Amino acid sequence: MRPFAETARRHPDGIVDLSIGSPVDPTPDRVREALASATDAHSYPQTAGTPELRAVVSRWFDRRRGVPGLSDDEVLPTIGSKELVAWLPLMLGLGEGDVVVHPRAAYPTYAVGATIAGARAVASDDPADWPAETRLVWLNSPGNPDGAVLDVDGLARAVARARELGAVVASDECYAELGWDGQWRNEPVPSVLDPRVTAGDRTGLLAVYSLSKQSNLAGYRAAFVAGDSRLIDHLLTVRKHAGMMPPAPVQAAMIAALSDDDHVSAQKELYRARRAILRPALIDFGMRIDRSEAGLYLWGTKGVDAWQTIGELAELGILAGPGPFYGEHFPQHVRLSLTATDERIAAAAARLA
Ligand SMILES: Cc1ncc(COP(=O)(O)O)c(C=O)c1O
Repeated sequence: MRPFAETARRHPDGIVDLSIGSPVDPTPDRVREALASATDAHSYPQTAGTPELRAVVSRWFDRRRGVPGLSDDEVLPTIGSKELVAWLPLMLGLGEGDVVVHPRAAYPTYAVGATIAGARAVASDDPADWPAETRLVWLNSPGNPDGAVLDVDGLARAVARARELGAVVASDECYAELGWDGQWRNEPVPSVLDPRVTAGDRTGLLAVYSLSKQSNLAGYRAAFVAGDSRLIDHLLTVRKHAGMMPPAPVQAAMIAALSDDDHVSAQKELYRARRAILRPALIDFGMRIDRSEAGLYLWGTKGVDAWQTIGELAELGILAGPGPFYGEHFPQHVRLSLTATDERIAAAAARLA
């Protein structure tokens, strides 16, 4: 990407960097205050999370994700979600001969996690194609990079097939609050722990969530995993002994973030406005936007090699992410993130016009 970034930086009005999904808006005051007032942290933090944090996570699942009744032993905070994604296969004891399935257009860390464990990563969206050796299935809805959403039936099909294979399902749901088009305009994006998916049985199922995007907390490293109590207990044991303890001030900040829905709605409106400007500008520029019905990205193609589009955009001072960074199946796609200020998004739209 370096030569393209250099080209984009040479634009007289500066670069518009839409290549990574790093939040640009401020962390909410109430969250910063909660962190600041928890800085006397002389004792070790609880790997399991404080009882208050676990209760808040459980209430949040009920209120925002349609998942009632999660008990204390079904939730666990993590140090951001990337570490969990990267280490989960190893923490579950996977190794040589095992398969980790992930989406065809995928956040690269799913495959990294398989590699760390010595397992094999297989990119597949069709449960019928998942190999017999599959031990872990990553779902990602809404998806990064493509903004695809799995509805209740899609989730249930994935769960049924994984159970047939004896595989764990880990559903990475960090963009769930950002539904835009189609049915997701009015309806929440479902969780893998939704009772319509599980029929009350959470065995083998984990939902992974992060506060990085919804609360502009990427620098805090604040996330959690929930689901099957047996798996959570196992992860807790491993994480205790491996020192994977979310810092106490961050746990306090998470409580503040998860107890307030207003800042999440306000942030969503910022992204909605940016998307409403960027999407038509990309279409006018000759791009077809695929999927992208939810999430933080626009996934599009001009029907030519991704690197050609990356080059054209760089000449306009706009940096995008090339499809090949998300697997081998989308050589002509590029990903554009909505994480730029209103001013930079307006600049991008003007240049595309
Ligand atoms: C699909 C997906 N999962 C997980 C993460 C990691 O987020 P964090 O480590 O900030 O919680 C990201 C970050 O971009 C992501 O896109």
